[in-house]
Amino acid sequence: MNIQDISNKKFFIFDAFGTLFKTSEVKAELTKIAGDKTDNLINVWRNKQLQYTWLRNEMEQYQPFSVVTREALDYSMRLNGITDKKVFDILLPLYDTPQLIDGAKELLKTLKDNGKTVAILSNGTRSMLDNGVQLTGIQYYVDHILSVDDIGIYKPRPAVYQMALDKLGATIDQLIFFSSNQWDVSGASIFGLDACWINQYNETKEGLPFGNVVETESLKELTGYF
Ligand code: 2OP
Repeated sequence: MNIQDISNKKFFIFDAFGTLFKTSEVKAELTKIAGDKTDNLINVWRNKQLQYTWLRNEMEQYQPFSVVTREALDYSMRLNGITDKKVFDILLPLYDTPQLIDGAKELLKTLKDNGKTVAILSNGTRSMLDNGVQLTGIQYYVDHILSVDDIGIYKPRPAVYQMALDKLGATIDQLIFFSSNQWDVSGASIFGLDACWINQYNETKEGLPFGNVVETESLKELTGYF
């Protein structure tokens, strides 16, 4: 598949955090508390959050993303020697009341204007995703919100991508999955979905297995294909 061919697809499925919604924001308030540990605090938090979801998959110990997200932040704070509980109030809203990445709204609107079915498939909880979609005003452009909470298994387990096909009633060739998270692109494409890696953080390609994947550099560039 060439990137230009994505406009032939009918179902456009997006990862949420890191792809449509921001996962970090350095506020002056946070820097005041964490100082030069701020970047490390945020990076360890995100890495541990993801790692904990995968470990919980392995152990069959599912807990919602809100719990895992808090436990990962608690760890990152202890690692960085930060005890001020205000950090929870500053950082957890990134997930509880998510904000859009630049270009997301324009892309989703363009897809709807072109008659596409748009869905979110995320490890986030239903309330995180509902809040994000409502508060950012993209509810007009998102037809389905699919949360792993419904099956208690995290991406990149194949069952999650299968859930998207089942819930949308889509055939595998009608659907394309978008993510900026390489582990997610890997999981979806190895499962058998056509996938698009939105490489908006200019990352080096990971040494993971990939199936049929096209690459684009931004949400804005994607919008240009319609
Ligand atoms: C998601 O939204 C965690 O970014 C991942 O599914």
